[in-house]
Amino acid sequence: MSANALYTGLSGYYDLMCVDIDYRAQSNAIRRLHQMFGNGGTTHLDLACGTGPHVRHFIDAGYQSNGLDINQPMLDIAAARCPEAQFTRQDMSHFEVGEPSDLITCFLYSIHYNDGIEKLAACISSVHRALASGGIFCFNAVDKDKINNDLFVKHTAKQASDLFTFRSGWHYSGQGEKQSLRLSIEKANADASQVWNDEHPMVAVNFAELIALLAPYFEVHVFEHNYETIKPWDTTSGNAIFVCVKK
Ligand SMILES: C[S@@+](CC[C@H](N)C(=O)[O-])C[C@H]1O[C@@H](n2cnc3c(N)ncnc32)[C@H](O)[C@@H]1O
Repeated sequence: MSANALYTGLSGYYDLMCVDIDYRAQSNAIRRLHQMFGNGGTTHLDLACGTGPHVRHFIDAGYQSNGLDINQPMLDIAAARCPEAQFTRQDMSHFEVGEPSDLITCFLYSIHYNDGIEKLAACISSVHRALASGGIFCFNAVDKDKINNDLFVKHTAKQASDLFTFRSGWHYSGQGEKQSLRLSIEKANADASQVWNDEHPMVAVNFAELIALLAPYFEVHVFEHNYETIKPWDTTSGNAIFVCVKK
C-alpha cells in the first residue's frame, strides 16, 4: 500500500479518476457564496489545487487565480492547464503568500490532508494571514463521527484500449484524530491488469471541533454539501461546505 501514488507517479490518471466531478458547478457555487459573503475582490488562491480544474474555472470567470499544492507532478499538470496562473509547491499547513487573497478555497475534502489537529490549526492560521480584509475561506469537509467505513465510490473510465476502475472511501477507526482515504486504481486491457492501492493519512475532526478551531479567526457559516442549491447545514449531515469570513 503506497502513501500517495495518485499524486506522484500516477498523477497522469488523476483527471480520469475525477472525470465525473462537476468542477464548473463547484466553482460557480463558491463564486455565488463569495458574492454573498466576500469583500468584492477577485484575487483567489486554491489550496491543494491538484491539476488545477478549479483555478481554470475561476480564471475564466474573471478571477486572478493561483494555486498551491505539495506535489510537483500535480502542479505540472495544473500549470499546463492554466498558463496564466502562478503555482507554488508548499505544504498548506504552513504556507506563505506574497500578496493577500480575497478568496481562498480548498476543494474535494483536501483540507483533511493536514495530517493531525495541530497541522489543521496551523493551516487555518496560515489561511487567516493570507486573506485580505473581509476575505473568505471556503472548503468542504467530512465529520469523523458520521463516516461509514463500508461506503465507497466506484466508477469506470476508458482511455484508449485500457479500462480503469477507481474506488475510494473513508476509513475511521472511531477514535483519535487520524482517518484515511483508501483508493484503488485498476487498469485492465486485453493483455493484462494492474492494481494500485493508496492509503492517504488525513486529519479526523467532527464538525463541532472544526467550528471551534475556526471560530477565533472567522465568522463561520455552514451549508449542506450541495453545489446546485445553497442551503444552510441541517446540523446532522456528515458532509458540509464551510464559508469562513475573516474577522
Ligand atoms: C483529492 S486531490 C484534490 C485536488 C483538487 N483540489 C481537486 O478538487 O481536484 C488532493 C490534493 O491535495 C494535495 N495535497 C496533499 N497534501 C497536501 C498538503 N499538505 N499541502 C498541499 N497540498 C496537499 C495533493 O497533492 C492533491 O493534489
